Amino acid sequence: MVPQRKFEARPARSVTGALVVPGDKSISHRSLMLSGIAEGASEVTGFLASEDCLATLSAMRALGVHIEQLSPTHVVIRGVGLRGLRDAGFALDMGNAGTAMRLFTGLLSAQSFNSRLIGDASLMQRPMERVAKPLREMGADVRTRAGTPPVDIGGGRSLQGIVYAMPVASAQVKSAVLLAALYADGVTTVIAPGINRDHSERMLASCGVRLDIDGLCTTLHPPKALVNQKLNVPGDFSSAAFFIVAGLLGASSEGLLIQNVGLNPTRTGLLDILRSMGGDIEVLNRRESGAEPVADLRVRASALRGVQVPVELVPLAIDELPVLLIAAACAVGETVLTGAEELRVKESDRIAAMSAGLKSLGVAHQVLPDGMRIEGRGEGPAFSGGEIDSFGDHRIAMSFAVASLRAAKPISIRDVANVATSFPGFVGLARSVGLDVYESAE
Ligand code: S3P
Repeated sequence: MVPQRKFEARPARSVTGALVVPGDKSISHRSLMLSGIAEGASEVTGFLASEDCLATLSAMRALGVHIEQLSPTHVVIRGVGLRGLRDAGFALDMGNAGTAMRLFTGLLSAQSFNSRLIGDASLMQRPMERVAKPLREMGADVRTRAGTPPVDIGGGRSLQGIVYAMPVASAQVKSAVLLAALYADGVTTVIAPGINRDHSERMLASCGVRLDIDGLCTTLHPPKALVNQKLNVPGDFSSAAFFIVAGLLGASSEGLLIQNVGLNPTRTGLLDILRSMGGDIEVLNRRESGAEPVADLRVRASALRGVQVPVELVPLAIDELPVLLIAAACAVGETVLTGAEELRVKESDRIAAMSAGLKSLGVAHQVLPDGMRIEGRGEGPAFSGGEIDSFGDHRIAMSFAVASLRAAKPISIRDVANVATSFPGFVGLARSVGLDVYESAE
C-alpha cells in the first residue's frame, strides 16, 4: 500500500512576495484533446503537469496520438486528425479527473471503436449519466453502472446534432456534447441554465471550428478538420484562489503578488465575492494569452465582512467555494452560501468535508442541503488548530492549509496526496511566500 501523506500547517505570521501558480487544469485537458484530433503539430507551453492532466495525456497517447513532453510544462502534440484516433485496447484510467472522464465520454462516443473509462475510488462514485444522457440523444452508445463509472462506450455509431437544454450549468457536460458534436450530422445547440466556464468554446474557435454563441446558447457547426494550435496556458485561477485568500488573511504591508493568472470571466466569481466582503484585490497588467484574458493580482490583508453569496456567482466560483468558506470563517458576521448543491458531487462531498474540518477547528456553522451558514470570528485566530481529514480531496486539503494563517495552533491535514492532481509544488510555493506548511508520510 502507498503510504498516506499529510500536511502539518503551523500558524505563520504573514505571507509576502510574489509567486506564479501552475497552468490552468481545464485548459490543459482541453489542449491535449483538441490538439490530438487537429491536423499537424500543436505546441503547448505552461501546461499543467498534474496527475489529472497527465491522465489525459496518457489516454491520448494510448489512443494513438504522439505526444512529446519537452519539459513537464512544454508539450508537443502531433494531431492525428478528426478520424485518426485508434482503439487503446484496454480501459483508459482517468485517475481522479472528472473533467477527463466526462470530456472523453463525449469524444469517444463518436469513434469507430469501443472504449471503457475507469478511475480512482472517488471518480468511480461520481455521476456520469449527466453526460451519458445527451450523448444517447445524439445516437451514442454510452453505458454507466447505475449512473457511475465504469463508462462503456460502443463505437461505430453515427451521431445526430441535437438541441440540448442542460439541467445543470456544467461546463463538463457542455464540453462532452460539443466534442461529440464535432462528428455529428448537422449542428448541435447546447443551452445552459446559467453561465459556466467557456474554455472549450474559446479553444474550439482557435482551432477553426465555427460556433455561434448567443447568451447561454452555443451552437457548433461540425468542421471538416481542426487547425493545430500554439498555446500558452495561463495560471489556474482555482490554484491562485488559495493564495488570494492567504493574502487577504495575512499579507504583509506590501501585499502578495500573484502573477500570470487566468481571468476568464466565467471563472472569477470568487473575486467579486471577496471584494464584496471587503477584500483588497488589485488587478494589474491585464493582457490576452491566446484566447484567454490574463493578469497579475496584488492582494492586501483585509478586514472581511460576512455576506450572502449571490447564487448567480456560485457556478463562477464553484471550485473556489471551499477556500471561500475559510475566508468567511475569518470575516466579521455571518456568511450564507446557498445554491451550491453541486459541491456534494465533486471529488468529495465538499459541504460535508468542509463542515467536518470546520467543526474540528471550532468554527460555528450550520450545514444546508445546498451550502452553509458560517459564523465568522473577525480579528485574531478563527481556527483552534487540531487534526482534520481532507477526504482525499485536493481543494479541501489546500483550503485548510490556508486556514493555518489564522489558527491558534497547528492544523494537521490528513490524506493530502491528491493535491498533486491539480497543484504539483503547492507546498514549496506556499512556503516560498511564508506559509509554514510541511508535507510528510502519515
Ligand atoms: C470543469 C468544470 C467544472 C469544475 C471542474 C472543471 C471543466 O465542473 O468544477 O473542476 O474543466 O470543465 P462542472 O462541469 O461539473 O461544473
